[in-house]
Amino acid sequence: MSLRVGVVGCGYLGATTAVCLSSMGHHVTATDVDAARVQALNEGRTPFFEPGLADLLATQLASGRLKFTTEMPRLTQQSDIVFLCVGTPQSAGELATDMRQVDSATQTLIAALQHPVVVVGKSTVPVGTAARLRAELKAHSPNSELVWSPEFLREGRAIEDTLAPDRIVIGAAADDARGSEAVLAVFADQVAAGTPVVHTDLPTAELVKISANAYLATKISFINAMSEVCEVAGANVLKLSEALGYDERIGAKFLRPGLGYGGGCLPKDVRALYARGSELGAAQAVAFLDEVDAINQRCRQRVVDLTEEVLGGPVAGRRIGVLGAAFKPNTDDTRDSPALDVAGRLHLRGASVSVYDPQAMQTARRHRPTLTYAETAAAACRDADLVLLLTEWPEFSALDPEEFGRAVRHRRIIDARHALVEKDWSAAGWTYRAPGVSLS
Ligand code: UDX
Repeated sequence: MSLRVGVVGCGYLGATTAVCLSSMGHHVTATDVDAARVQALNEGRTPFFEPGLADLLATQLASGRLKFTTEMPRLTQQSDIVFLCVGTPQSAGELATDMRQVDSATQTLIAALQHPVVVVGKSTVPVGTAARLRAELKAHSPNSELVWSPEFLREGRAIEDTLAPDRIVIGAAADDARGSEAVLAVFADQVAAGTPVVHTDLPTAELVKISANAYLATKISFINAMSEVCEVAGANVLKLSEALGYDERIGAKFLRPGLGYGGGCLPKDVRALYARGSELGAAQAVAFLDEVDAINQRCRQRVVDLTEEVLGGPVAGRRIGVLGAAFKPNTDDTRDSPALDVAGRLHLRGASVSVYDPQAMQTARRHRPTLTYAETAAAACRDADLVLLLTEWPEFSALDPEEFGRAVRHRRIIDARHALVEKDWSAAGWTYRAPGVSLS
């Protein structure tokens, strides 16, 4: 069944959701306050790099089912179900979530309502937000409903995560059946294909998303803490991680040690849960999240320290080639990117840092205009005293150590993501180092 769906917010979540809902056969009107972004999307240009999204956007625009607009009344006129997909970044100067986008989008939506709608909250918000927004909505439009159905999409796999989710979580108020039915109707194909559906209340649905991200971050920080222990114990964190991963209760996913997590979600969600849990009186329960964050920050400093160790002294005046700027491969996102952070720290210490990334050059330049950027991996590492691999793009794992070695002044590499085969690089005369792996 084709439904009339609105999407508020055309960032990563909103743009992907709008395009995917259209590809599922729904009629979608998506809105954003950023006129340039709306125009770009209407012209078939995605505001960020996401594999497959530009092609899918083109086919959906051609289908006539997908439109982008800056005008909220157009969206409310043409929608019966409205997905709320605006950003919830960290507030400046504190750990808590910046709710300005959520609040202003909801107010604009409510003011523009022309008939009752079902609002489906997707953004990651502090627990308690959905109940408040529902009350505000119902005060103006008693026959409208609001449910919360968090999104779990990963950058780089956003389309498949939206079209074939692991689970659909629907949080609804006790006296509301209509909101849940609307979500089930939108995702009727996924439900028919057997996607598990978890029906719950509003606060639980809000907490599912943030606790999923906090759990993933904790798992990554656990292995990175063990990496520190391995270093002092003369052990190998890669072997440790492999052995732990075979235990089905633990599992190998999100147990890759290295430079830690970054991006627009995990770091801010860990801090937001810490802040909100403390605010609600569960400070002790969330205290460990502060440590999870601290371990993650230390990963970056450890690579800086390792750089000085390999160079045998301060980095000032030394040439360092940096491979990777995105927070992970298959994205051009450099928000809270561990790679750019390390490059920036070395630059501030006086090193001559040259950065290359297969996709994130533009976003990196915007975030860190003071760094030097090069057009290829070899150009970034020309005459380098040391190479740092900071984002595990397949392009870097495929480098030929012998040929690549001709670009640099000294064959020294720190593989902060454990993306290379150590013996291949050592065989080509490179000094190879990686965090958590002691020299044999
Ligand atoms: C995450 C969640 O996975 C997703 O469900 C949610 O909707 C948004 O936040 P994303 O930020 O796209 O998605 O990245 P993800 O693939 O989860 O990786 C997060 C970070 O952890 C990256 O910086 C990655 O490099 C790092 N990571 C991941 C590790 O350091 N080790 C691992 O083993 C796995």
